[in-house]
Amino acid sequence: MKETILIIGASGSIGLEVANRLIEKEKHVRIAVRDPEKAKKLKLNNSDFVHFEYTKEETFKPAFEKVKKILLVSPPSFLNIHKQVNKAIDDAIKEKVKLIVNISAMGTENDTKDPMCIIENHIINSGIDYVLLRPNCYMQNFKDLFRDFIKDDDEISAPAEDTKTSFVDLRDVADFAVQALLKANLKNKSYTLTGSQALNMHVISFLFTEALNREINYRKISEEKFKKILQGSGWSQVTIEGTMQLCNYIKGNSNSQITDDIKKVLKREPIKFQKFIMDNLKNWK
Ligand SMILES: NC(=O)c1ccc[n+]([C@@H]2O[C@H](COP(=O)([O-])OP(=O)(O)OC[C@H]3O[C@@H](n4cnc5c(N)ncnc54)[C@H](OP(=O)(O)O)[C@@H]3O)[C@@H](O)[C@H]2O)c1
Repeated sequence: MKETILIIGASGSIGLEVANRLIEKEKHVRIAVRDPEKAKKLKLNNSDFVHFEYTKEETFKPAFEKVKKILLVSPPSFLNIHKQVNKAIDDAIKEKVKLIVNISAMGTENDTKDPMCIIENHIINSGIDYVLLRPNCYMQNFKDLFRDFIKDDDEISAPAEDTKTSFVDLRDVADFAVQALLKANLKNKSYTLTGSQALNMHVISFLFTEALNREINYRKISEEKFKKILQGSGWSQVTIEGTMQLCNYIKGNSNSQITDDIKKVLKREPIKFQKFIMDNLKNWK
């Protein structure tokens, strides 16, 4: 019988990419989401869908039954639900789950009071086998969060200063997560996943200008103004908080480090920003 891999957060950006890759490899995937009926529309074939909510403990046991491995996309720190996440981890271990692959964010390990760091340490101390993945900001944010700024206004507006960030392509992170779930040699280690170039917003807007054949400018704005723009565009409070957190990472100047974890494990170069733009060009036309 095939082993079941549970994905918590399969409706989110990285969870969905990983689920699709595992299904392509004919693995049996169970999708744990807050709204299984909505998730069924994601067209993830041959998968189970279960209701799962960190704030509803009664949803844990049915989700973990007969599961050997879990991909856990840690909820963003501002949600402050690490106690519930840690309880879910304990219950998973009681149900005989053998491996947790956890996705947090670059630098998570540096702030022991941060909810994502508390979750990482809980996993390490629990004694279960684990793989900790700490990706830098995804290039895909320019396709999702910043899409309309580029498409409609020909600009990238953000409170991100002039600092450099080694953005990583979500597809590399998904490929890495699949290896972490399927190959034993990555176990009980942490990996910081970055692209191969550290770029500031001026360079990124230049790359968009070249690829789209029209001028795209970077507009540095204050946090307050940015928040107002997002509120005015009807963004949900959770998405606004997440985007503000992202901009804080970028302008904090600590996300410019380049690591070779992707190259070592995937045995190829990380995807470059230019390729990310070319592969998604129609989004900004
Ligand atoms: N975006 C980036 O550039 C980036 C880079 C590195 C790391 N990260 C980190 O990655 C994490 C997630 O980011 P993402 O972009 O993948 O987010 P996302 O696309 O919004 O996905 C979040 C997922 O979490 C699930 N979720 C939220 N609250 C839940 C709850 N109470 N119970 C169960 N599931 C819940 C959602 O499932 P439902 O469908 O049930 O709502 C959704 O599938 C964050 O911690 C972020 O800091 C993001």
